[in-house]
Amino acid sequence: MTVIRSQLLGTGYKLPAKVLTNDDLSKMVDTNDEWISTRTGIRSRHIAAAGETTGDLSYDAALTAIKNAGIRNEEIDFIIVATITGDNTFPATAAKLAQKLGLKPGTPAMDVNAACSGFVYATQIADNMIRLGQVKTALVIGAETLSKITDWTDRNTCVLFGDGAGAAVFRATEGEGTPEDTGVLATKIYADGSQYEHLCSDGGVSVNQKAGFIHMDGKEVFKVAIPSLVQGVEESLKIAGLSMNEVDWYIPHQANLRIIDSVAKKLEIDMEKVIVTVDHHGNTSAASIPLALAESFEAGKFKKGDLLVISAMGAGFTWGGIVIRI
Ligand code: UT7
Repeated sequence: MTVIRSQLLGTGYKLPAKVLTNDDLSKMVDTNDEWISTRTGIRSRHIAAAGETTGDLSYDAALTAIKNAGIRNEEIDFIIVATITGDNTFPATAAKLAQKLGLKPGTPAMDVNAACSGFVYATQIADNMIRLGQVKTALVIGAETLSKITDWTDRNTCVLFGDGAGAAVFRATEGEGTPEDTGVLATKIYADGSQYEHLCSDGGVSVNQKAGFIHMDGKEVFKVAIPSLVQGVEESLKIAGLSMNEVDWYIPHQANLRIIDSVAKKLEIDMEKVIVTVDHHGNTSAASIPLALAESFEAGKFKKGDLLVISAMGAGFTWGGIVIRI
């Protein structure tokens, strides 16, 4: 039976020029490279310049994704930005970006706030719209400037996060409706707000009219992260009618190498098939997966027909997974 599938046409990314190493951080707070690298796997992260916004990073990532997709900007008929650090409280960063990219007047644009799972949420929304025939070509972006909501005096959080943007272009194509099709084969998203205070901003427009700083009870989040990332993979594979031994690459949310190691063990996937970028990106929340995806494409890691499984977990809590054949 012929079905519509969202084909991944191209990806792109942008990292700010400034690199902050663990040694740099050890001059700012009571920490050291040994603690950060053994507890998290992070060695360096990129930090946006003073005037450099999430929208700016998104714009550069989008241009590369559009170029790599081999399309013109005007062919995009939906744009969605996953972020918790949008340029303004309103309007959506996506709306400003649509204008800057010169998309057709009237092109729908929205932001989605699902924290580190943002790219998974945004991809599900775009994929559903494509499969319903509402749009043909969608630009999905995950972008953050977390450095702007980081308390640079708090060693519990300031060593963990980084800035960046990743973008992906999806287009409607015909498939056979089988697990052998290329394109997005399944998406699954979840949320549970019962523990939201373990990972949140201590500010908010309606609460205290401030953006606030990132607050995280690391140990509590750690415990939930592992089963959630596993569930994102297992449930999306089940929907796709595929199993773990058919997966060529696993792209997990990049928060902590110890979490990634432990999820890989539970999924019984070799670390050689797991994409790791946390060492040089840190945790970039919604940008983490599209950054890892785009960087891997650029490095020539993937070949046509490879099966990718993605899973993410973050504040909310939110979590989920994507299965895609490229
Ligand atoms: O992106 C959304 C998902 N996020 C995550 O998945 C993050 C999940 N959590 C984690 O990755 C880890 O819990 C952290 C990396 C945040 C923390 O690692 P941990 O092994 O859980 O350390 P901890 O918070 O229990 O701290 C252990 C010790 C403490 O000292 P005491 O109380 O044992 O004396 C901390 O004060 O390490 C100390 N510590 C530090 N020491 C040097 C905390 N931060 C630092 C630091 N440098 N930067």
